[in-house]
Amino acid sequence: MTESLRELADKNGFILGAAAVPKAVETEPTYAETLSSQFNCLVAENCMKAQFLQPAPGQFDFKEADKLVSFAEANGMKLRGHTLIWHNQIPHWLKVDMSRAQAMDHMRNHIFGVMEHFKGKVFAWDVVNEVLEDTFFSYREKSRWYELIGSDYVELAFKWARQADPDCKLFYNDYDLEAVDEKFDATMKLLHDLQDRNIPFDGVGFQFHSTAEHVLSMGKDEKFAARCERVQRELGLEVQITEMDLCLSSNPDDAELALQAQTYAHILRLALEAENCTALLTWGFTDKHSWIPTFHKGKYGHALLFDNKYQPKPAVAAMAEVLENIHCSNPIIS
Ligand code: G3I
Repeated sequence: MTESLRELADKNGFILGAAAVPKAVETEPTYAETLSSQFNCLVAENCMKAQFLQPAPGQFDFKEADKLVSFAEANGMKLRGHTLIWHNQIPHWLKVDMSRAQAMDHMRNHIFGVMEHFKGKVFAWDVVNEVLEDTFFSYREKSRWYELIGSDYVELAFKWARQADPDCKLFYNDYDLEAVDEKFDATMKLLHDLQDRNIPFDGVGFQFHSTAEHVLSMGKDEKFAARCERVQRELGLEVQITEMDLCLSSNPDDAELALQAQTYAHILRLALEAENCTALLTWGFTDKHSWIPTFHKGKYGHALLFDNKYQPKPAVAAMAEVLENIHCSNPIIS
């Protein structure tokens, strides 16, 4: 392969990104070199979540996140924002009793404080993340934001986000949208309802965490393509793949690696062909720093494009071939 994934994605006008952690950027030259040479975009895996950005009420700590901003700027990379309002990784001080009005003040201050700080640097924010629960696909009642404010926390978040940075793209982001029919339908209902009431937002983030095996065997590929089309037709919105990883077993053989390569390449092809899909980001890029082995207690691993020594896995060449041969339908990088 002569050209990097980044060079090919740039030529195609497509955003190809990865989640990153500041510590590795600072301390591992190969991490930094691989990230900047292979991707034209990055997203913070953790350090732009509320727990880290606002450790005490009204006191923001942008130190770690700003390291990623500087890295993105120094390397001409785009930066995605993840995530403003989520039930997980919230600050401790939000867990104490408070009135609805106080919670709304906190949410507004968080959105304005963060978005104003990153204005002109972050091109798209996951404004709300994972709003629906996994049984009946209704509002996740165990979200502190839901408990304190009620279901309208979602529309308030989008309204304040638009006011805080009118030029930034605002996303609704969730997992399993390419997998679980009822979840996608419930999400579309939520988004239709918001749009009918003129709540401002621009796109839907499909996280796309999966095992490699389940993408083709469960038809997630066809569902993804059909759902991009439905988001475009019904809502006129953009789609981005925001957190893709494809788990393998803890000790994968060549056949597993080949299936992973074929699947990454196939989904990239569908993303390029979709009229409204503008980005594909993976959740990390080296198996050395992936959340998968810890989360799955060693049962799964090897989910990313580069191995734990930063060597490209078969998926890299497979994706490069797609980027070389398939034109992006909706180029947004010039
Ligand atoms: O900050 C503490 C640190 O002080 C402590 O020393 C260390 C010891 O384990 O833990 C650190 O917290 C960890 C945190 O990541 C920051 O590194 C948590 O234990 C760990 O659970 C947490 O996991 C993150 C997870 O979100 C939290 O739900 C993963 O790294 C991160 O990849 C994951 O990302 C989410 C997306 O935001 C949303 N979509 C799903 C995706 C995967 O779960």
